[in-house]
Amino acid sequence: MLRIALIGAGNVGYHLGRRLAEKGCAVEQVFSRDKKKARNLAEQIGAEPIDHLKAVSSNADLYILAVSDDAIEQVAERLSEHLPEGKTVVHTSGAAPSTLLAPYFQRYGIFYPLQTFSRQREPDFNSIPICIFSPQSELEQELLGLARTISQSVHRIDDEQRAVLHVAAVFVNNFSNYLFQIGQEILGQEQLPFGLLQPLILETAQKVQEYPAREMQTGPARRGDLATIEHHLAYLKKFPKFRALYEVLTREILEEWLKG
Ligand SMILES: NC(=O)c1ccc[n+]([C@@H]2O[C@H](COP(=O)([O-])OP(=O)(O)OC[C@H]3O[C@@H](n4cnc5c(N)ncnc54)[C@H](OP(=O)(O)O)[C@@H]3O)[C@@H](O)[C@H]2O)c1
Repeated sequence: MLRIALIGAGNVGYHLGRRLAEKGCAVEQVFSRDKKKARNLAEQIGAEPIDHLKAVSSNADLYILAVSDDAIEQVAERLSEHLPEGKTVVHTSGAAPSTLLAPYFQRYGIFYPLQTFSRQREPDFNSIPICIFSPQSELEQELLGLARTISQSVHRIDDEQRAVLHVAAVFVNNFSNYLFQIGQEILGQEQLPFGLLQPLILETAQKVQEYPAREMQTGPARRGDLATIEHHLAYLKKFPKFRALYEVLTREILEEWLKG
């Protein structure tokens, strides 16, 4: 059985570790600089909690770095100081290239679950696209096999493709979530419940499962209702930041539909 050391107990580490363990993988260690966080996850999956990189065991078959993008290289370098040669290391980032690991390990790759993870919310792993890559084809096959044990949606995606996917993911997830936040803040200021917008948010996401997003666009900019847009801009004077964003997005949608 594959022995895994999980480096990172944040949003991804937490859910990925639990899923791997649920599917019978031996996650033997969980690292976090915060011992409590490491212990909390480790206890759930029968692993050893550790809070020093030097304590990462040499016996694991696979080291999964689920740490912040900016920490990947530093963590890889520190692990390479004491792990024996020939060890396999992957990271879970959508943005960082696999080559970050190349100076430190001969067998390296990517294990990127394309979903938004927050600790509070249980993800449905079966449908999460797992994007796999390794320049070593034998290792890539092993990673594809491991990914298939936790998801039904497994893909070989190279570094360049993954970088593109990540940009698109920022638009559809991070930015739309920020727009949800703006809606929530405006209603909050006016003592209106956010629940009034929730069916709209759900329907927006559901419609694009079936139809192209462009075809599903509605609203004043799509229709060219300029008087309505002026009313909105007048109201938004009390939220200058939101007003600026409203103007940019409205201009884009107007142009999109003016050109046909
Ligand atoms: N969240 C998502 O939706 C998502 C989805 C797909 C992929 N990813 C990728 O998965 C990776 C982890 O993301 P996340 O959302 O799980 O992040 P997170 O919740 O912020 O957790 C980050 C983890 O990195 C560790 N860390 C940060 N700096 C470190 C350092 N200098 N040395 C050692 N450990 C360090 C933190 O350790 P401590 O516990 O010690 O603070 C924590 O365990 C990132 O590469 C991210 O791009 C994220």
